[in-house]
Amino acid sequence: MNSRDTFANWISALEARHVRDLTFPEISRALRALSSAYIERRHKLTQGAALSGAGKRAAFALFYGPLHFLLVHHIVNALPKATASTETLIDLGCGTGASGAAWASACTRPPRVIGIDRHPWAVGEASRTYRDFAIDGRARQDDVTTVKLPKGPASILAAFTINELSDASREMMRQRLLDRAAQGDRVLIVEPLAGFVAPWWNRWREAFVSAGGRADEWRFRAELPAVVAKLDRAAGLDHRELTGRSLWLSGPTDVSAPGRGHAGRPYMRRSQLRRRSSGQQLMMRSFGTPARRACAIAVSA
Ligand SMILES: C[S@@+](CC[C@H](N)C(=O)[O-])C[C@H]1O[C@@H](n2cnc3c(N)ncnc32)[C@H](O)[C@@H]1O
Repeated sequence: MNSRDTFANWISALEARHVRDLTFPEISRALRALSSAYIERRHKLTQGAALSGAGKRAAFALFYGPLHFLLVHHIVNALPKATASTETLIDLGCGTGASGAAWASACTRPPRVIGIDRHPWAVGEASRTYRDFAIDGRARQDDVTTVKLPKGPASILAAFTINELSDASREMMRQRLLDRAAQGDRVLIVEPLAGFVAPWWNRWREAFVSAGGRADEWRFRAELPAVVAKLDRAAGLDHRELTGRSLWLSGPTDVSAPGRGHAGRPYMRRSQLRRRSSGQQLMMRSFGTPARRACAIAVSA
């Protein structure tokens, strides 16, 4: 089965499951309520308001899940080396597992996926998504801000999750992710383009870019699955063009090379780099075309 068929079968399974329990008008009404929760009642997101009620959960699974899949699929195929093999993909705030599945299934050798979400319903949905994509995946219920993350080497994804954290948790998470990237993990953050959703974005962007990463904005026309397009129209939305923005830290240049990253000598943490730089010259620079930017860390005695 090719990846288009797998995606189409996943959508059919979602539709069969969610339209079995609710009518289409009920789901499209819930989609309007869900969209307004994301826009007008954002302050309630930290309390899990988005996934309260069967209608909103069905709307999330059937509408936002596939949209997030398409966006993340597009992003990882465009970012240099994002689809290179990795052993483990950790999906923070995995929701229905859509974004993690999009990244894992685009990889040259699919990684095992560990999805983490605080919502029990999301954990169940993510497990089904991994099965539908034949991914070696496991979702578990936990709080991403306090959970002990599996050891690297890993690719770490947080798609549409960071904006749901409290300010204090978000700050702590930023440093944690930067530390993991400094040890050689790959980190991808995806959020909506709308500025009011992520007023913290510029600070994160500066931190990621200074650590050698990159920031991108995405806008492309997508062929939406029929049920997603129908819900889009029924709820008065317009997602014929998909948009988003991302932060990317690519970790080691070759994750499979022996003796690199966590697999061998650990990548130097930034604190170690600073220590080693006494008596040595430490230089960080970006090079390449804007589309294929990479970071070089050159230590010369
Ligand atoms: C907008 S959804 C995105 C889901 C998924 N990443 C995607 O791209 O479709 C945000 C998810 O983050 C989860 N979440 C928010 N805060 C969390 C926390 N502190 N710990 C674990 N999960 C959290 C929510 O339960 C929800 O499933």
